[in-house]
Amino acid sequence: HGPPKRAPRWWEADDARGRLLELAATGTPRYAYHLPTVRERARALTAVDAIDRRFFAIKANPHPEILRALVEEGFGLECVSQGELERVFEAVPQLDPSRVLFTPSFAPRREYEAAYARGATVTLDNVEALQRWPEVFRGRDLWLRIDLGRGDGHHAKVVTGGTASKFGYPVAEVEAFVAAARALDARITGIHAHLGSGIGHPRHWREVYAELAAVADGIGTVDTIDIGGGLTIPYKPDDAPFDLAAWAEGLAEIKAAWPRYRLAIEPGRFLVAEAGVLLARVTQVVEKQGVRRVGLDAGMHSLMRPALYDAWHGIHNLSRREGPADTAFDVVGPICESSDVFGHGRRLPADTAEGDVVAIADAGAYGAVIANHYNLRGLPREDVLA
Ligand code: LLP
Repeated sequence: HGPPKRAPRWWEADDARGRLLELAATGTPRYAYHLPTVRERARALTAVDAIDRRFFAIKANPHPEILRALVEEGFGLECVSQGELERVFEAVPQLDPSRVLFTPSFAPRREYEAAYARGATVTLDNVEALQRWPEVFRGRDLWLRIDLGRGDGHHAKVVTGGTASKFGYPVAEVEAFVAAARALDARITGIHAHLGSGIGHPRHWREVYAELAAVADGIGTVDTIDIGGGLTIPYKPDDAPFDLAAWAEGLAEIKAAWPRYRLAIEPGRFLVAEAGVLLARVTQVVEKQGVRRVGLDAGMHSLMRPALYDAWHGIHNLSRREGPADTAFDVVGPICESSDVFGHGRRLPADTAEGDVVAIADAGAYGAVIANHYNLRGLPREDVLA
């Protein structure tokens, strides 16, 4: 009965709230990341025996301290641009390049050259790159990203599979890619698929593994199957937590059926989303024709997810935790766009007022890194709590 139980968030503890209020006093908007939460999520994945290799998709949060913590936890790092490649070697100078994946989309030729020069593992998802740049790939190992003909995810804009998607090489045409690679003496050592982001049903990944393993059997040179990222987290109070036990069980079964391959994953959100909050300060409280609005100094320039995907993030007034949060407000930012809304009809304390510190929850993934300077408002700061 009632919503599924979930553990209290790290920032709900009194000492953490005090620390966040102190940080907010040094300026808002700013993100705070809780490293123990990142490590705890990492260990939950490390405990899944069927998985041989774990990569963090750094696009979700490339903060150097997060990268260092995840490398310490045994994770490799998945990069999609030259900027991300440079970031990982800056953050972790002694990083073994065999722990770095490069999985770009429509990147320029020089980025593939840079990735090989670094010693990273390169993933391709089209045959044109092989044909146009044979010198880049001749004699190399590479991974092939496959489009399994369907996608998944929390919103149409984060689906990365199917005919309408720019990602992945069609599974039905794999033989043509294999022939083009063979002509260059390039070896396909990995097969990859990532169908989208924010996927909650744990069967998804075992199905992907089975489909990719059948493809790998046909290629013959593959040693690793990368089933992507995409694991969701519970954003709403009554969202069920991702069912890791069912996920692990499914992977163990499918791995037992196809034991020849090393199983790799590359999640982003799951590792960092819940570790991050965005701290903002109330600028104005306005009632207009029956609608009460709380304005923040953070907006769609600080956290794009609500404006981009209608994403839901918890909103909490950290300055007034004593009274009940029983009054409905629309929570908005200062940007001159109607999409600059963090939430409609959110329950906050009735006495919410200018100067209060508000936390926007679960903002550690795809938050700060997507921030921009629209309206010439400042970028958010970032702090790490050890
Ligand atoms: N691997 C590849 C090839 C990817 O494209 C992505 C995410 C990941 C792994 C990690 O996915 P995750 O585990 O984080 O779901 N900005 C959107 C999400 C975009 C995801 C892009 N690719 C959002 O805030 O919901």
